[in-house]
Amino acid sequence: MLAEKAVNQGVAPVTYGQGDRPPRGDYAAARADYTCDQNWSAYTAADHDLYRRLYERQAAQLRDLACDEFIAAVEHLGAPDRIPRFEQLSETLRRRTGWEVVAVPGLIPEEAFFALLAQRRFPVTGWLRKPEEFDYIVEPDVFHDLFGHVPLLFDPVFADYMQAYGAGGLKASRLDACELLARLYWYTVEFGLIRTPQGVRAYGAGILSSAGELRYSVKSPEPSRVGFDLQRIMRTRYKIDTYQATYFVIDSFQQLFDATAPDFTPIYRAVRQLPEIEAGAVLPGEPLIAAG
Ligand code: PHE
Ligand code: CO
Repeated sequence: MLAEKAVNQGVAPVTYGQGDRPPRGDYAAARADYTCDQNWSAYTAADHDLYRRLYERQAAQLRDLACDEFIAAVEHLGAPDRIPRFEQLSETLRRRTGWEVVAVPGLIPEEAFFALLAQRRFPVTGWLRKPEEFDYIVEPDVFHDLFGHVPLLFDPVFADYMQAYGAGGLKASRLDACELLARLYWYTVEFGLIRTPQGVRAYGAGILSSAGELRYSVKSPEPSRVGFDLQRIMRTRYKIDTYQATYFVIDSFQQLFDATAPDFTPIYRAVRQLPEIEAGAVLPGEPLIAAG
């Protein structure tokens, strides 16, 4: 009954940041779990063309900046000249790692997001940015969600991390610790760097889908690059409207998975006792990692 009601009347829209912008997606068309139909035939030729230009610009700069796992998997997105059909993409992905992509109207509430990840369903925004947002967009759109996030769902260890994160999110909601856990997402899934024999490389979706931040995060001498440290990350604030001032560097996806496997309950408690760290601050004696 409840679920049916939500289909007819829609679910509550969600906005990012201050919430002074109207939500862009059609939340009235979403189901109770916030998923909706992709409505692929509603994309225009101009949408497909804009997607292709975004894709080609990013694909051209992956070499020497993106990690190998990402580069190897990006081709699973299919030909760049069309926004992929989520159902087709899910078929391949399901066979590889048991994940699927599902359409959502845009940003969704934390709990709905965690629940989908815990079920190995990755929510991808249906709408594409406008041409005037070619270089920069505040909210995630279909290009960010697909190009940034989906390739690493083909990596078995990273795929398991994402599911564990979802389950951890449901737990964090009960412990009132979502803000601390969100920082982990931000500094790994969105803006993470990884050490490789060739130097640091990007694996975070926010970097990999950004025209300017990809090179900046890997090569610029400006930002600080700090080795992965769970408590350090949970204490660190982040900026949503500029390039990051600090990036955290993992040694491997296995390190990330193992370091986040323990029960976070005592870790949340410990972190709450410690002072927050401003975005970009470097702690005394903290070793920094060289640009890639
Ligand atoms: N181990 C975490 C917990 O107990 C769950 C988690 C795993 C969170 C992976 C984030 C990433 O809460
Ligand atoms: Co994202």
